[in-house]
Amino acid sequence: MKIAKILPLTLPIMFGASANAVPANPRVLVAYYSLTGKTERVANAIADASGGQLYQIKVAKAYPDDTKARRDILEQEIEENYLPPLQATNINPENYDIIFLGSPVWANHISQPVKSFLAKYNLAGKRVIPFVTHSGGGRGQSFDDVAALCAGCVVDMDGWSNWGSGTGRKLNKWVQEQIKNME
Ligand SMILES: Cc1cc2nc3c(=O)[nH]c(=O)nc-3n(C[C@H](O)[C@H](O)[C@H](O)COP(=O)(O)O)c2cc1C
Repeated sequence: MKIAKILPLTLPIMFGASANAVPANPRVLVAYYSLTGKTERVANAIADASGGQLYQIKVAKAYPDDTKARRDILEQEIEENYLPPLQATNINPENYDIIFLGSPVWANHISQPVKSFLAKYNLAGKRVIPFVTHSGGGRGQSFDDVAALCAGCVVDMDGWSNWGSGTGRKLNKWVQEQIKNME
């Protein structure tokens, strides 16, 4: 009787802990959205350093090349918090254990396509490590956005943020540390 009473309380705690553990050889995905190539450059460096699978998040309807027309559309999407539909892909992010998730900073937040990505997939139980590029305003609310929009994820708030597309040794070291911390 005593055991029966205790079990319902202890089992979820035990299994809850193991369900969140990262396996010995974690499957790593480097998912990113990049409009002008800066975040892409950082994503490539993270994929090189981690050995992870690269995955470029693409919107179904490409934004126009014309800078003025594009800015108008982006401003409207941001203001309305519109989540643009994404292009179909063969890669299923739900099959990975660790997801480096990259975005440019838009109006102090993560970009709308990355919000679409987080709305589309169920990443509960995954380790999600944000990385962002910006043009001097810093990461803003971007890491908090990932934490708020990724239900049940373990979001690493020690993400990577840099002005433009700079990479280099520091980035390599950071990638290794993030993966090590999760093993
Ligand atoms: C719509 C829009 C909003 C932006 N808002 C910010 C911002 O709030 N702070 C900032 O530092 N940079 C901002 N930027 C600049 C980008 O974050 C920066 O250029 C980034 O490195 C671009 O990455 P990408 O080349 O991968 O698209 C904005 C750019 C766009 C297009």
